[in-house]
Parts: sequence; C-alpha cells; structure tokens
Amino acid sequence: MSKKKIYKFPKGFFWGAATSAYQIEGGINSDWCEWEKKNADRLAKEAKDNWSKEQQEKFPEMFKRNNYLCGEASGSYADMDADIECLKKLNANAYRFGLEWARIEPEQGKFDHKAIRHYREFCQKLKDNNIKPVVTLWHWTNPIWLQAAGGWESKAIRKAFLRYVDKMVFELGDLVEYWVTLNEPLMVIGHGYLDGKFPPNKKFSPSLFKVFNNFIYVHKKAYDLIHKKFPHAKVSIAMTTGFFEPAHKWNLIEVAIAKIAHYFRNDWFLKKVQKKIDYIGVNYYHHDRIVWYPPFKKNLNKIIDDRGWEYYPRGIYEVLIRYKKYNLPILILENGTADADDQLRPRYIREHLYYINKAISEGVDVRGYFHWSLLDNFEWAEGYWPKFGLFAVDHKTMERKARGSVEVYADIIKNNRIEIEE
Ligand code: BGC
Repeated sequence: MSKKKIYKFPKGFFWGAATSAYQIEGGINSDWCEWEKKNADRLAKEAKDNWSKEQQEKFPEMFKRNNYLCGEASGSYADMDADIECLKKLNANAYRFGLEWARIEPEQGKFDHKAIRHYREFCQKLKDNNIKPVVTLWHWTNPIWLQAAGGWESKAIRKAFLRYVDKMVFELGDLVEYWVTLNEPLMVIGHGYLDGKFPPNKKFSPSLFKVFNNFIYVHKKAYDLIHKKFPHAKVSIAMTTGFFEPAHKWNLIEVAIAKIAHYFRNDWFLKKVQKKIDYIGVNYYHHDRIVWYPPFKKNLNKIIDDRGWEYYPRGIYEVLIRYKKYNLPILILENGTADADDQLRPRYIREHLYYINKAISEGVDVRGYFHWSLLDNFEWAEGYWPKFGLFAVDHKTMERKARGSVEVYADIIKNNRIEIEE
C-alpha cells in the first residue's frame, strides 16, 4: 500500500505565480509589436515544419496569422482586479509581474503619469490583499523610440534604461521590496543575436557582446541606484537556468560538453553580477541530455508537454544544488508547463516542489516559488496556442477560468506543504 509523506516548506515562504507585462496586459505599442506584424505570416507558415503532427492537430490556431499578434493579450491592464481575484483563489502571498517600459515612456524622456499611477494602484491593491509584489523592470520589450537610438546594442541604452529605472523606483519603491532588473538576458542574446528567432533577428552577430556588456552595466548601476534610494530593497535578475547531463557518464566528451554548457547557461552571467545581487532569481524549465555528436543533445522525452519540452523535475534540484556555492537566498521566479488539458500540471507542480524541498533540506536557501504562469498568455514567437496558465483565459471575453491545478496549488499554499505518495 502506498503511503503519503509530507514535506513542509520554511515559514514565511513566498508562494505565488509569475507573468510579464507584454504577455498579459494588452494594448502595448512596443518593438515586439512591430516585429509581430512583420513576422506573423512567416511564423504561421513555419508552424508546419516546427511542430509535430499531433501538436498541429491539437492546436490548429498555430497556422493562423492572428495567433502571432499580441493585441489585447489577456486584458490585464484593462482589469487589474481580475488578476488579483485569481491570486486570491490561489491563496498566493506574492506575485511576480512586470512593468511595461514602452507604456511608461512612450516618447523618449516623456513619462506617462497615468500609466505610472496604474502600476502604483496595482501594487497598493496587492499589498491590501497581503500579496507581496515582486516587480520585473524589463522582460524583453522596448519602447519603439529605442530602436532609432540603436536599441540594446548602443551605449545610449545605458542612460535611457537607468532613467526609466530611476523613475519607477522613485514612484514605486515605498511599495516594492523585491525587484528583478532583467528577465533572462541570455535568452534574449541567444534568440535575438545567435539563432535569430526573436527581434532583432540577428544570427551569430558579434553585436551580442555589446548587448551582453550593456546588460551587465545596467544591472549593476540599477542595483546601486535602487539601494541608494531604498537600502533594504532586494534586487536580482531572473536567470534562465538549465540542467545538462551527459548521456553516458563514462563518455568524457559528453561530460566536458555538459560542464561547459553548465558554465555558460548557469554561471557566466551570474558571476559577472555576483556582488550586485541580493538573491538569485531562478527560472527553470529545461533539462538537456548531452551526446557527443550534433546536435549534441538527445533527450529521452518519456513525457513531454504541449511545447515538446521534456518533463524532468529533478533538474530543478540539480540547478539549486549547484547554486549553493553562491551562498545567497534563491527565489524560483519561473517554473511551469504548456499543458492545455491540465493533465500534467498538477503532477508537475508537486514534483518540482518535491525537488525544491529536497534542495532546501540539503541546505539551499530557497525562499519562494512563482509558478509560470498565473494566466494563459502570449508566448512570444509561438503566440497564443501554448497554454501555460493556472487560469485559462478566453481571449475574446477575457474571462478567467481556473484549471484543475488551481485547487492543487492553492491547497499546497494554504498548508505550506506538499504530500507525496511513496
Ligand atoms: C520567459 C517567459 C516565457 C516562458 C515560457 C521564460 O523563458 O521568461 O516569458 O513565457 O519562458 O516559454
């Protein structure tokens, strides 16, 4: 007979979900928005080559242009209370969400005070509901005017970004303790400047080093700036982490590739900003099983989600254990799965939490977990068809509907523990 075992989480653990501004707010005019309009037809056409037959049959919307246009997203800007209601249903005590720079500073140097008031009101409402705001300052989208100034490749970004940060910290700093300056900078470099999947669509471009240096520069300066105004603030970046495992432990080439991959994915950026972070922000989705021949990875894929990503909960434990050496608190800022039918998600949540709990019991200082995502949203170059939400969204009526996982996760949060069948 199977027995249930209980794993408790530390007192005061942050429980919540995560979103980003562009993916849920709607009505934003940013560089991504311009990019989609130019690329939607191409993306709809390419869906035939990029996805398995099963996925194509299950999500026929991937062949439609509209799927790739963000438009009104999940309507979160128009109705902030709807998202707060979802958070309350989850029993969340924290929420990671983003600010939209393109909305706040639609013209260079001119701030939109109505937009700023909106974010202030939202933070206040979260606080009134005992939900701690964790605010992302930049999650991939930029005001359109930044392109003319050279975007993230130019030195002009430094002054522009820090002026925006300065303004928002001044406006919200009394309500916000936890800040994320940049979301997954390496993802932007990989897709924007190596494989060309994201704007500005560059492939193997040497400009990536300029972008990399600018990311590091602005993060460090933003860290100082925030601390100067609010010495007790907690500031970090969200790292795109991964667990790389050699397919054969005896194969020294595979072992070496896995080591190199670990360094570049998990440590490279972090080491550069190590002295200017108060916690490590971990986004974990991926495991890669490394082989010595191209394309150097061959996952077993016994269970995959709608995006074709392998279900591999132990990977989060491996990442956390490796991060122990930094001796810093950790927040899991993203972890989730594209699962329209909600078949996998309940187990996904429980088992990832089991491995997080295991890392905690081995001395890793994990302080919170934010599931990606609170709501179905706009999944960048994939558009709307992948469903990451705990709450499903009808993008016409903007109605939110709890998937089965909500009950599972709300119960875990309420009791600050998981129960696992053994
Ligand atoms: C990003 C999110 C994205 C998620 C799922 C993360 O890398 O930060 O914006 O939706 O992955 O693809």
